[in-house]
Amino acid sequence: MGLSVLGIAGSLRARSYNLALLRAAQDLAPPDMDITIRGIHAIPLFNEDVEAEGDPEPVLDLKQAVQEADAVLIATPEYNRGLPGGLKNAVDWLSRPPKQSVFDLKPIGLMGASTGIGATAEAQRQLRAALAYCGAQTMTEPEVALARVHRLIDAEGRILDHEVEDELRRLVEALGAWADAVREAIAAA
Ligand code: FNR
Repeated sequence: MGLSVLGIAGSLRARSYNLALLRAAQDLAPPDMDITIRGIHAIPLFNEDVEAEGDPEPVLDLKQAVQEADAVLIATPEYNRGLPGGLKNAVDWLSRPPKQSVFDLKPIGLMGASTGIGATAEAQRQLRAALAYCGAQTMTEPEVALARVHRLIDAEGRILDHEVEDELRRLVEALGAWADAVREAIAAA
């Protein structure tokens, strides 16, 4: 049976390099893996008062997409040495209700790209911590954290550097194996 992966881009930019990375990952994914990309543009600012009235439609949609996916692949930029607010906001919505997050036990892979030298190491560290709090099973390796990404990939997802292509291929293959391992561990528990 094929593996369905939900790709979430942490940038709202139409010509985002992180979105481009997800597009490249779609092309490099093994034949038995299907990556569907979702944006987080429509997610409103988290507000417990709004939540108390019921999750807004875009939140329900994203929760359902995460729920139905076998695994999630998130590509994040880094803003001011941290996780972009839009992505953290989406994680906050999906973390709810407490102890019943759709991320609970969900196999997740991370990657990130920046045009600077930061390479998203700090953003990924913060994202990993937030996802751990939600009970997610986030893969630790391989790490894909690309600095000066404009030299490595174009905004359409065309990879300009073969090492990046190999890194991305290793990441999606490892995510497939990780999703299988998590599923087996849950079944055996
Ligand atoms: C950035 N950028 C950036 N880069 C980095 O390596 N470390 C950083 O801390 C920051 N901080 C930062 C803050 C803000 C507000 C912006 C808009 C940008 C540059 C960033 O890596 C670059 O804009 C990327 O292209 C953003 O990712 P997308 O939109 O291409 O996916």
